[in-house]
Amino acid sequence: MADRSAQARREGSTVGFIPTMGALHEGHLELVRRARGEHGLVVCSVFVNPLQFNNPDDLANYPRQLERDSELLVQAGCDVLFAPVKEELFAGFTPQHYDLGGLDARWEGPSRPGHFQGVVNVVERLFFHVRPDAAYFGEKDRQQLAIIRHVAKALRWPEQIVPCPTVREADGLAMSSRNQRLSPSERRSATVLHRALRKAAELAFQQPVKAVVEAATAVFKEEPGVVLDHFGIAGADDLKPLTDWPAQGDAVALVAAQVGPVRLIDNLTLHRPEDRDR
Ligand code: PAJ
Repeated sequence: MADRSAQARREGSTVGFIPTMGALHEGHLELVRRARGEHGLVVCSVFVNPLQFNNPDDLANYPRQLERDSELLVQAGCDVLFAPVKEELFAGFTPQHYDLGGLDARWEGPSRPGHFQGVVNVVERLFFHVRPDAAYFGEKDRQQLAIIRHVAKALRWPEQIVPCPTVREADGLAMSSRNQRLSPSERRSATVLHRALRKAAELAFQQPVKAVVEAATAVFKEEPGVVLDHFGIAGADDLKPLTDWPAQGDAVALVAAQVGPVRLIDNLTLHRPEDRDR
């Protein structure tokens, strides 16, 4: 794979890379299209990374549909699908422990021990094989994005990390490969994550942070079948929980909840009233 990237660079192209775990949807494909517009060679990986799953059921049930993924990637303008087996990806490799700058201490971290270490380890391996100039990550996984940015900067990885906005279904549910596992009624209830985030966005910077968290959390009462794991408001870059609104810059609301068999996460940037609709 590295040879292909090297050849592209010799021919004057740059390499854009989209790491995924497959079961592709519009959220992933938007990243591919974005990379297509910015690079001569576009590479997408599909690898269901065992290092980042802490629940064996979740790993076993993670949807795998490589043939369909491959067709979707061609349509979206991807040049190369890198779908390694784990022996190939991890050949001669021992997992490392990375300093994540404390960014894994909250939100998804405590519920998923080792998850972000697993993500960073596989991203490092994927970068090692693909050698991209830029890699595209979705804001849907905001904490993952913050952690990758942190590690890339701290370790001076040469890759540019490009954040991309969350793609949603028409009713607001953030697209996710895991949504496939929801029953029709769970699928309807799952919009509560977005409804709660919208409530927070509406009240942000106008009421105290605590009151906004309470109002957003109360939205979950509309869906008794959904079990809220956390709802919080944090600084947009460091993801540190806020007790007061920052004097400048944005905040972010982060949510995780169990809907039927699936744990869903979502987040929304909270803009200051004077910056909204700009
Ligand atoms: P996966 O969940 O397949 O997501 C791959 C990329 O697509 C991530 O950067 C994710 O944030 C982005 N993405 C997913 N849903 C999105 C949506 N609705 N809108 C915008 N972007 C979205 O994230 C992973 O895989 C893995 O942890 C990985 C980075 C590949 C490491 O194994």
